[in-house]
Amino acid sequence: MATNITWHQGLTHAERTSYLNQPGLTIWLTGLSASGKSTIAIALEQHLLHNSYVSYRLDGDNIRFGLNKDLGFSPEDRVENIRRIGEVSKLFADSGTIAITSFISPYKADRELARKLHQDAGLGFVEVHVDVPIDVAEGRDPKGLYKKAREGLIKDFTGVSENAPYERPESPEVYIDNSEGTVEDGVQKIVTYLVEKGVLKFPKA
Ligand code: ADX
Repeated sequence: MATNITWHQGLTHAERTSYLNQPGLTIWLTGLSASGKSTIAIALEQHLLHNSYVSYRLDGDNIRFGLNKDLGFSPEDRVENIRRIGEVSKLFADSGTIAITSFISPYKADRELARKLHQDAGLGFVEVHVDVPIDVAEGRDPKGLYKKAREGLIKDFTGVSENAPYERPESPEVYIDNSEGTVEDGVQKIVTYLVEKGVLKFPKA
């Protein structure tokens, strides 16, 4: 715990937003492994960038190669994983970037913490539940992880192991039933929400 530290106020978020002509915010995707979060996140980032919105994706698997490589999948490590991503996405949002996070983020309390962090700083936070029934995720199993979890080769596996539940969001801003429909449908649903709320407009300028 650091002591004797001082917060230095520099540019405000409002100034950055005005110069960049876009609001910084976080679009927080949550859902089971193999629900399609990363695919939607990539397509969304591409859509935003093609429309001149500065956007950046933070991905559960990728972040564990670097910043969070010291963390595993125990309940405690997942809490810390999401705490750090809440902080990092907040920094991106504060910079004026549209941060898109795709983490299972299975615990409701952790997602709420990330939301509060943003709200307290006056930054937008949009929770998106990418939902598929577990048997659909397991049927896809692109990385073969569900199979390994069922065989007992991976422990603490979300939705499979007893100590690794997925707590469904109760009232996410956007709900995507991702067992049917295309990636574009998912992206469109998020974009439509942001336009309807007056957060983004197309064309941008
Ligand atoms: S979270 O629960 O802490 O939010 P995160 O999104 O970072 O998880 O990482 C999940 C990804 O790690 C999965 O998509 C999968 O590829 C991989 N993974 C490896 N082991 C596990 C596990 N025990 N439970 C869930 N995902 C795992």
